[in-house]
Amino acid sequence: MSVTKPISAISAGDIRARKGGDPVVSLTCYTTPMARLMDAQCDFVLVGDSLGMVLHGLPSTLGVTMEMMILHAQAVARGLSHALMVVDMPFGSYEQGPQQAFANAARIMAETGAGAVKLEGGCRMAETIAFLVARGIPVMGHVGLTPQSVNALGGYKVQGRDDQAEVVLADARAVADAGAFAVVLEKVPAALADRITAEVAIPTIGIGASAGCDGQVLVVDDMLGLFDAFKPKFVKRYADLADQARAAIADYAAEVRARRFPGPEHVFADQTEKGAK
Ligand code: KIV
Repeated sequence: MSVTKPISAISAGDIRARKGGDPVVSLTCYTTPMARLMDAQCDFVLVGDSLGMVLHGLPSTLGVTMEMMILHAQAVARGLSHALMVVDMPFGSYEQGPQQAFANAARIMAETGAGAVKLEGGCRMAETIAFLVARGIPVMGHVGLTPQSVNALGGYKVQGRDDQAEVVLADARAVADAGAFAVVLEKVPAALADRITAEVAIPTIGIGASAGCDGQVLVVDDMLGLFDAFKPKFVKRYADLADQARAAIADYAAEVRARRFPGPEHVFADQTEKGAK
């Protein structure tokens, strides 16, 4: 599939212009039905590589491929008309250098209709971000806890405590100076997130950061309680859909076993009744 016109009313430039304004609302999104549910409420949706863990049962995001990202992004695009779609660049698709990053980002944009890509890393990614932005690809940065570097970071730990605060601040500055239109701050102390928000010129999008960020993002399956294998401290559950799904599936199984489903209202008569479908 090749896409030629924007799928959404909101652009990366619109998100950039929200610095210091009304908070930017965002969730991750991986499927068409979920995109339809969140389109009107979200300013942007993120086709995050978290889909590897959330939907595909992988132990980390490291096994996520370009093909997986493109397939899910194409599905999400079909459910959007309002929110900007940002697509994560998967591990291994951009770290070699600007040329590799451009080839893969251009493929994501052309094949999915994404309005922007997101990639992880601060100072070390500045040259690549600048290269993409100069060639017409809006980039969202991601600093603090960068899950694709879980092996280098030694786990999914809070980043930027004590003397590491300056490192995360420098990363956020580098991403902004390179031309990113917004930056995700993941799992950093609230005071540091507030300081970065005050000091960088682009919107900060917090996840495990601070209510003072310019916007927030959560993994949708976490906040709906659909993914309930574990709950990070920074997740608020707004629903318990896994519990509801388990109960509904158990009811269905019991009714099938007792021959109570299908009921008379779910089966078809021999003869066509007036108005019957
Ligand atoms: O992949 C993802 O879901 C993300 C969010 C955690 C920001 O990058």
